[in-house]
Amino acid sequence: MTTIAKVMAGFALLLSPVAHPVSAQAPEEKNAPVTVRDGIFTIAQAERGATVFAGACKGCHQPEQFIGAGFIDAWSGQTADAPFEVIRTKMPEDNPSSLKRSEYAAVLAYLFRLNGLPAGDTDLPNLLRKLKLIRIEVVPETEERP
Ligand code: HEC
Repeated sequence: MTTIAKVMAGFALLLSPVAHPVSAQAPEEKNAPVTVRDGIFTIAQAERGATVFAGACKGCHQPEQFIGAGFIDAWSGQTADAPFEVIRTKMPEDNPSSLKRSEYAAVLAYLFRLNGLPAGDTDLPNLLRKLKLIRIEVVPETEERP
């Protein structure tokens, strides 16, 4: 390499971090923790989940049993992939894993909504690595559930 080429190469190296602007960072590289209270599903998705629930779950479950202690409180402290995987691999009990991943995500969104969690602009994902980034953390400090 000529001296000038070495200098140019060094210069390119020096510049390379600029080629990766902060905005290109994947969400998982952000520091802010995401919780179920940050609007991690959409209303439309939760409504699709209600339809899935009516068709695939209601034969054995009432929605009420998934409010509070029966569901969300039990998963508090874990991440959203945990209930997703339990439901996906065990339910419907008579035909586990028979729904699409997007349908399991919709059902989970529905269950979150049943628990009074806020909707947002993006659907709840159905990939475990993305669900792992969402922490289940219930009962806002300012409110108490009966
Ligand atoms: C054929 C009956 C049946 C259907 C249909 C069914 N379930 Fe269940 N489900 C059960 C039974 C029985 C249990 C308790 C035994 C167990 O935990 O495996 C249960 C347990 C659960 C639990 C608690 C699991 C745990 O380990 O904490 C969840 C959550 C759940 N069901 C969600 C669903 C959802 C969502 C659907 C629809 C996609 C569904 N179930 C469909 C029978 C059913």
